[in-house]
Amino acid sequence: MKHETRFKPNEWALILGASSGFGGASAIELARHGMNIFGVHLDRQATMPVVQQIIKEIKHQGREAIFYNMNAADAIKRNETLDEIQERFGSHSPATVKLLLHSLAFGTLKPFIAKKTEEAINQAQMEMTMDVMANSLVYWVQGLLSRGLMKRGGRIFGLTSSGGHSVLPSYGAVSAAKAAMESHIRQLAMELGPLGITANALMAGVTDTPALRKIPGAQGMLQIARWKNPGTRLTTPEDVAHALVLLCEEGASWISGNVIGVDGAEDVVSYVGQKGAE
Ligand SMILES: NC(=O)c1ccc[n+]([C@@H]2O[C@H](COP(=O)([O-])OP(=O)(O)OC[C@H]3O[C@@H](n4cnc5c(N)ncnc54)[C@H](O)[C@@H]3O)[C@@H](O)[C@H]2O)c1
Repeated sequence: MKHETRFKPNEWALILGASSGFGGASAIELARHGMNIFGVHLDRQATMPVVQQIIKEIKHQGREAIFYNMNAADAIKRNETLDEIQERFGSHSPATVKLLLHSLAFGTLKPFIAKKTEEAINQAQMEMTMDVMANSLVYWVQGLLSRGLMKRGGRIFGLTSSGGHSVLPSYGAVSAAKAAMESHIRQLAMELGPLGITANALMAGVTDTPALRKIPGAQGMLQIARWKNPGTRLTTPEDVAHALVLLCEEGASWISGNVIGVDGAEDVVSYVGQKGAE
C-alpha cells in the first residue's frame, strides 16, 4: 500500500523499546509516513534477526534507522546516546526529535504476598520495575529538552494498560508503574504545554507480544480479551502504531494530558462471557 508522507525529512522519532511489540510496529509505521527512527532496545543474539528486519523495513522506506542495543534505564548510556543524537544533528541543523515513545517492557511479575519470601516481590525488583517502566520516561524527556532536541510541536507518548487502574495477579509492580506512567504523562503535559509539546498515555488492549506472554496466566488473558473485546479480536501492535501516526498530526496539537484507549473499547466492558456462552 502506498502511504502519504506526513512527516518532514528532518523529523525523527526516538522509540524506547523499538525492537518488538508496539515499539517495533510504530517504528515501521512512522517510517512509512516519512519519519526517521532512533531505536533503543535490549536484545540478545537470538532476537537480533528481528531487530535487523525492523531496520531493513525502515530503510526500505528511504528513512534512516539508528538503533542502540542498551539498557534504557542506565543513566550513563542514556546520556551518551542523547549526546550522540545531539552531535549527529549538529548545532544549526533543523533536525528535531518530533516524537518520543516509551514502550519498554521489563518488570518483575511476582505477587506482593507469598508463602515463601523468595516467591514474593522484593524491594530491588519493585524499584527496578518502577524505574524502567515509568520513571525512565521522565529522565529521557529531561535529556531531550535540556539538549534542545525536542521543539514546539513535539509529542511524548507512554504505554499504559488497564492494569493502571485495575489489578491482576502477579502484576502489582507493573500496575504501579502504569499508574505512575499515567501520572508522569499528566505532569509532563502541564510542564511542557507552554513549550507547545504534548504528552499522552496510550492504553493498549491485551496484545499478543513477548512481554504479554511472560505474564503468568497469559493464555487465559488472551482468551478473555478475545471474548470481551467489542471488536471481536485482540489489539495488535499495528493498532497502536496507526493511532500514534494520527496523534502526530498538526491537528492533534491540543490533545494532551490524556490516557487514550487504543483497545477497541475492551477496557470499558466488564462482562466476559459474550463468546464463551455461545
Ligand atoms: N502487550 C500488551 O498486552 C500490552 C498492553 C498494554 C500496554 N503494554 C505495554 O506496552 C509496552 C511495550 O510492551 P510490548 O508488549 O510491546 O512488549 P515487547 O516485549 O514486545 O517489547 C518490549 C521492548 O522493550 C525493550 N526493552 C525492554 N527492557 C528494556 C531496557 N531495559 N532497555 C531497553 N530496551 C528494553 C525490548 O528490547 C523490546 O524492544 C510496555 O510498557 C507494556 O507494559 C502492553
